[in-house]
Amino acid sequence: MSSVAFENGPLVAVVMGSDSDLPTLQPAIIVLEQFDLPVEVRVLSAHRTPLEMVDFAQKAKVRGLKVIVAGAGGAAHLPGMLASLTSLPVIGVPVKSRALSGVDSLHSIVQMPAGIPVASVAIAGGLNAGLLAAQILAIYDQKLDKKILNYRKEMHDKVVTKDRRLTELGVDSYLEEI
Ligand code: RP5
Repeated sequence: MSSVAFENGPLVAVVMGSDSDLPTLQPAIIVLEQFDLPVEVRVLSAHRTPLEMVDFAQKAKVRGLKVIVAGAGGAAHLPGMLASLTSLPVIGVPVKSRALSGVDSLHSIVQMPAGIPVASVAIAGGLNAGLLAAQILAIYDQKLDKKILNYRKEMHDKVVTKDRRLTELGVDSYLEEI
């Protein structure tokens, strides 16, 4: 049962444990908006604001959200805690931490117990988290799927152009040019 009040609300939430995570999550927000998907962006800490995090997760589905992108660093419990509170898919983004360069965040996010899955992108992989969220939504949305395929075609064409230029110029001149 979805609430009428939120029928046209965002389908994706991008949440993070601290505002210091925002630069890592920004590429996800930008690419989702590029695909005309409005995004709800929140700072919700599993440790500093646990009750707000629980409230968000418990209401997420009824509010019409379909996918949650959750970034956190260090003892990165946010994605796993959200996943334990909702059956919506949660995509974790391990934020690069100062002390351990994000390996701590990655391990905290991927080592979930059987039964409560969390998807994970690479350390600081905000862009891929946004793309994966869009791909999940595109399963039932052909227009969105076309936008994603077009995004990939543009990426493909850029690489082909670079390959041609490298072949034309040779290594030294190419390196001088870029
Ligand atoms: C985590 O602690 C956050 O996700 C962030 O990556 C890390 C550091 O937070 P700040 O001390 O920068 O607020 O909960």
